[in-house]
Amino acid sequence: MGIVTNLSQLDEQDTFFLFVNEAISRPNLKVFVFEACDLDKNDFLEAKQITERVSFKSRAKLQDKKAIMSLTDFDMIFLKKDPPITKNYERLLNRLIAKKVPTVNKPQGLFKMGTKTYLKNFPKLTPRTYYANTVSDALKFIKKIGNCMIKKSDSSGGYGVKHVYSKAGLFYEFKHRKKTLMSKENLSEIIDKYIKNSVDKTILVVEYLLSAPKRGDKRVVILEGEILGSYIRLPDKEEGVCVCGNNGAALCPPSKDDIKMVKTLKPHLIKNGIELAALDLLMCKDGLDHLSEINVFNPGFCNLDVVHNKLNIGKRIVDMLCRKMTKSLN
Ligand SMILES: Nc1ncnc2c1ncn2[C@@H]1O[C@H](COP(=O)(O)OP(=O)(O)O)[C@@H](O)[C@H]1O
Ligand SMILES: [Mg+2]
Repeated sequence: MGIVTNLSQLDEQDTFFLFVNEAISRPNLKVFVFEACDLDKNDFLEAKQITERVSFKSRAKLQDKKAIMSLTDFDMIFLKKDPPITKNYERLLNRLIAKKVPTVNKPQGLFKMGTKTYLKNFPKLTPRTYYANTVSDALKFIKKIGNCMIKKSDSSGGYGVKHVYSKAGLFYEFKHRKKTLMSKENLSEIIDKYIKNSVDKTILVVEYLLSAPKRGDKRVVILEGEILGSYIRLPDKEEGVCVCGNNGAALCPPSKDDIKMVKTLKPHLIKNGIELAALDLLMCKDGLDHLSEINVFNPGFCNLDVVHNKLNIGKRIVDMLCRKMTKSLN
């Protein structure tokens, strides 16, 4: 089994460690880790074999056992890398498709569902959202909504997300929750960058939900179309934005509406070969949850195993990977 991840970006709470340590405990399973940039022109790569437990502190040990592997040596590859799809990652995904290597999630599904633009399919579930491909359209939509978040379509980790406001033809930005005037030129420059640097040349203009930072993001983790567990991630106190799990997390079981939402999404996930996904839900003032994001790349749930330790996430995910691997071998 190969795991693709960004080794230099692993943080202390990364579920990578959970999965690797579970995987190496399985008899007859050899576990390797590599990065997209390790792949050469001939579909060979230098992987690191993991033979003993690894933690954040001992992660340097990952460099110990190197092995030259061909992509087709792997019976299963677990794709666990943050967006966006870089040039190297795009090439790796395309080679995996060409060589028919079994993977979780499927590269085709990552290409299809891997940007926020896919939310276009669910206008009833999301906050009011406009999708723009030009600066002038984006400015028009910002004026129309007033209080909004602008989002680069392939952003992650809170980068490429900005809280802006417009009234009487003027534009403002929020920094540390303070509203300050912003010139149209300055805002246009940011929008232009978001559009140009995104894979599908799209920017989202999303109604700002005032209750969202008060409650925090609800994260619903989905395994093979069913809810695995859910919890609340608290936002950064200064910015009001949830970027990582380190502001604390609280158990929050799925509601009836969450279950309904996952039923709506399930056919899309199945069709696109997305076995593992995580939804970000934001609360609006009527207390209803809205769909803000479908994470399909590296569905983080670093706190889910803490708040929900009986779920045994590591075991369930590795069981799923092994089941898929066995199926593809038969
Ligand atoms: N419409 C919104 N209203 C209020 N806060 C939002 C809204 N959309 C996003 N946020 C905040 O910004 C964070 C990042 O947005 P998100 O769409 O999840 O992008 P990312 O891919 O960077 O995680 C969210 O976790 C949430 O805290
Ligand atoms: Mg998010």
